[in-house]
Amino acid sequence: MSVLAKHKILETNATLLLVFAFLVVTIGGIVQIVPLFYLENTIEKVEGVRPYSPLELAGREIYIREGCYVCHSQMIRPMRDEIERYGHYSLAAESMYDHPFQWGSKRTGPDLARVGGRYSDEWHVDHLIDPQSVVPESIMPKYGFLRDRMIAPTHIEELLRTHRAVGVPYSDEMIAEARADFAVQADPLGDSAGLLERYPGAQVRNFDGRPGISEMDALIAYLQMLGTLVDFSTYEAVASR
Ligand code: HEC
Repeated sequence: MSVLAKHKILETNATLLLVFAFLVVTIGGIVQIVPLFYLENTIEKVEGVRPYSPLELAGREIYIREGCYVCHSQMIRPMRDEIERYGHYSLAAESMYDHPFQWGSKRTGPDLARVGGRYSDEWHVDHLIDPQSVVPESIMPKYGFLRDRMIAPTHIEELLRTHRAVGVPYSDEMIAEARADFAVQADPLGDSAGLLERYPGAQVRNFDGRPGISEMDALIAYLQMLGTLVDFSTYEAVASR
């Protein structure tokens, strides 16, 4: 009997076809899924990626609270037009410490995955207070009130601990120093050596240009570090090695 003739038996018997189809899908499924059980992590580690500093993490909470993700994505797709506009496409590792991730599904405004360092702090202050003062055609809402809302790191340890519970490697030391790290990142005159050791590349400045730590300080600290952790002048994808 030829192979085709044997196949005809399968094709003309619905029950037999179902049984064999089930077998094929099961084997295919196992082949795909089982290797994942033996991988510690499916995200390739990339040099430079680190957990958010306490001030950046607080800024990220404000970003989520204000619904910035409703208009902004944080995921540059590997397509030429996006790469030319926004820079290197986003790596999985770059959002590995994001809980929840901020990839977004809508771009009313531009992608923000690499907005860090693109503008000055003063630009961000002006833009958040009145977007149309710097981009006349903007339809972004005003967020000037963030500059008047002072924040104290009252719950910062709990915030770090919560992120640790879902897998972000915050050490006991990072949690113990969270309040100090939070304050010193917005204080250019403070001793930020410990902060920089725990969070390499953290930017230390008075982000909103006013005394005290406002929600705007935290938000701008977050915006200014987005997409800046990986050095793409030295980064090589595994596939091209
Ligand atoms: C209603 C939609 C909307 C919301 C909500 C919104 N934005 Fe925007 N955003 C825009 C639009 C449109 C632009 C482009 C025009 C401009 O630069 O103002 C923009 C631009 C930006 C830019 C400049 C990006 C670039 O590459 O030029 C930043 C930074 C930014 N928004 C941050 C934020 C933050 C932070 C929040 C939340 C506090 C926020 N946006 C909320 C619509 C929005």
